[in-house]
Amino acid sequence: MKGIILAGGAGSRLYPVSKVYSKQLTLIYDKPLIYYPLSILMLSNIREILIISNEETIPLYQKLFDDGSDFGVRIEYALQTAPNGIAESFILGEKFIGNDGATLILGDNIFYGNIDFIYRAIQKNEGATIFGYRVNDPERYGIVEFDENGKAVSIEEKPKNPRSNFAVPGLYVYDNEVVSIAKNIKPSARGELEITDVNNVYLKKGMLNVEKIGRGVAWLDTGTPESLLQASNFFGVIEDRQGLKVACIEEIAFHKGFISKDDFKKLISKIPNSLYKTYLEKVLKEN
Ligand code: DAU
Repeated sequence: MKGIILAGGAGSRLYPVSKVYSKQLTLIYDKPLIYYPLSILMLSNIREILIISNEETIPLYQKLFDDGSDFGVRIEYALQTAPNGIAESFILGEKFIGNDGATLILGDNIFYGNIDFIYRAIQKNEGATIFGYRVNDPERYGIVEFDENGKAVSIEEKPKNPRSNFAVPGLYVYDNEVVSIAKNIKPSARGELEITDVNNVYLKKGMLNVEKIGRGVAWLDTGTPESLLQASNFFGVIEDRQGLKVACIEEIAFHKGFISKDDFKKLISKIPNSLYKTYLEKVLKEN
């Protein structure tokens, strides 16, 4: 299974900072936003990862992660010349995906809690698996409707009159068919290759699984200054209370055995003096 992080886009709702800065590099409490989706892929044992972004931001991600080897993963980069839609990921990523399945996570999506549901979907890797998460503001998302047996019957992108409160988070697990499906859909009225159209193809073929995510999992939005602040506060509270970091990719790489203890030591020695370094030193000492 290959992993893709889509981390481009205009981010114009964060103007003026969006003039010079990518949303996915925004600090969420103590680390850049993109660490959170990257950590989800790593925790799901996905170690071959493609980051898709624009010309200005790819060099910044390269500075952060290089080829991923410090974290025991392989990271490649692909250019999206314009925000042509989420489904374009599979066209840009065709060569990277090869004959494998592909798990796509949007670079601004944060999940926290028991994420076994992702792992289960990846293990199954049949058709497509997407998720349904109850939200208060369904007009803003892809929305899935279920029949009385809990079977998904429709998915609509940002409906004016939502048929349910179940939003589809930006995390999608596909088999290899997704490449040809993405190549065959047409741009929507807003000129984008919509991920919802890809999911509807799977739905029509009877190959779409929709798993509801329970309320014990947090799926956080990061589209606006207010939601960024909420996410920072959320992780600030949790990290301070537990003395453990969330989405600390260095720690995950070590705990998962992606890197050896020696590699972990070397990695720490390259980090400038900071609270982040102190934390990793503590992890090393305790293990
Ligand atoms: O967050 C979940 C939602 O994400 C889903 O419920 C929707 O079905 C899905 O369409 C998407 O809706 P958004 O309105 O959040 O999509 P947005 O255009 O904001 O793109 C999400 C992220 O992906 C954003 O950080 C920018 C990035 N992106 C987006 C597009 C369209 C790209 O890098 N390239 C693109 O072409």
